[in-house]
Amino acid sequence: MFNHLRRSFSTLRTPIHRLSEPQKDVTLLCWVRTLRKHKDVVFADLSDGLSPKYLQAVFDAQRVSPDLGVGCSLKVTGDLVESQGKSQRLELVPKTYEIIGKCNLVNYPFRPRREYPVAHERAHLHLRPRLRKFAALHRIRNDLTQSMHSFFQELDFCHIQTPIITSNDCEGAGEVFSISHPNDPKEKDSAEEKRNPSYFPSRCHLTVSAQLHLEALVHSISRVYTVQPAFRAENALSRKHLCEFAMLEAELTVENLDELVRLSEGLIKHCWQAVRTSEDLKALKAEEWRDKLDEALQQGFLELSYGDAIKELKGRNFECPIEWGDDFKVEHEEFLVATVSKGRPVVVTRFPAKLKPFYMEKSGETAECFDVLVPIGGEIVGGSLRETDLETLGTLIDDQKIEGLDWYLDLREYGSIPHGGFGLGIDRLMQYFTNTNSIKEIVAFPRWERHCQA
Ligand code: 4AD
Ligand code: MG
Repeated sequence: MFNHLRRSFSTLRTPIHRLSEPQKDVTLLCWVRTLRKHKDVVFADLSDGLSPKYLQAVFDAQRVSPDLGVGCSLKVTGDLVESQGKSQRLELVPKTYEIIGKCNLVNYPFRPRREYPVAHERAHLHLRPRLRKFAALHRIRNDLTQSMHSFFQELDFCHIQTPIITSNDCEGAGEVFSISHPNDPKEKDSAEEKRNPSYFPSRCHLTVSAQLHLEALVHSISRVYTVQPAFRAENALSRKHLCEFAMLEAELTVENLDELVRLSEGLIKHCWQAVRTSEDLKALKAEEWRDKLDEALQQGFLELSYGDAIKELKGRNFECPIEWGDDFKVEHEEFLVATVSKGRPVVVTRFPAKLKPFYMEKSGETAECFDVLVPIGGEIVGGSLRETDLETLGTLIDDQKIEGLDWYLDLREYGSIPHGGFGLGIDRLMQYFTNTNSIKEIVAFPRWERHCQA
């Protein structure tokens, strides 16, 4: 199919990584990424950004324009010939070229082959994608999301687009960004509201999770998933949190927790297979990390109940000592992954119900839920079986004074079915796969407290 598409769109220039044979009169629209000037020749590495591959062009030093510099864009036509150098098989001998966009390096914030502090890179978000490392991250992410779709499509799941604007706070954590119309009255219950009603009749915000909407869908289509942004007004300083992040959420008819855990483990391993062979891992100098992950993922995830995890953690010398009933802090998660499982991903199951949102199925004091913890990324997955009993749910919603969920209770009233699902933080999974310390390098335009540049 792809070959057919490439033939149909033959007016699109062949990407550099697909130029595999010597040929005459190849035309490229590309950028100069590095330049080496010698007495007789000038070597330029050309890139179209569609792969990590550069094409070396050999210009005649006598005929080269002084404007040909790093960062400029170029339309170049020449012959692709066998290279005499050892580092590449083919090289381009330009016949004609035109510098289309000059790049004035005096004010340009980056120099080729130099490393910069992250703060400097973050100060130029719009230019940062041109750095090799960032282009590599974006292409790896492309492979990753493709593989997520192929996993779910292969297993007969249906991809659903769920809304960004919603009236539910799925996680009940009150971390929502409210939205309003410019003409809305300031107070919802005011007399002015009666005269001039707000754009939306109830309080609305940006979604924190698509789960409740997917639950509506799963009562018709028994396997669904979505890949969408989620928004949470969260901790500004963490290296694992953004207020806008990407989440993959799956929901399916299922009767036991173990099946859900196995599905998330299978998904992560499937995605790793797509990413591990990427040439771009080289650009990130992540090959050693790749071997570590190969080994860790081959061994499989270490599964621990919350109770057993507490036994491992209790009595140890943490800044914040932990007891049964407490939620994990970063230091506890890191200990489980680094010391208890020695780098393998850890699945912690059945947390105390009181730590978890209303929708999870309970079994005594605990909820039928799980988290997946990994090095670097921390908690990458959270999931559970869902409470299906109408009365239990109704009582919980009343007790916690959650408004506007009558429609959600209808799902249990009419043809309720055992189901469950999970959410996977895509940006954090990228951190794990690429050994990237901060999520703010993973996302092209990261948003966090006091940061919404470009
Ligand atoms: O564990 P969470 O809060 O689970 C849910 O939202 C469920 N409703 C999902 C579901 O069952 N459909 O979030 C899921 C994952 C986390 O494990 C984490 O990886 C990621 O989303 N995540 C964040 N990633 C980046 N920045 C943030 N502020 C994040 N908050 C959660
Ligand atoms: Mg969670």
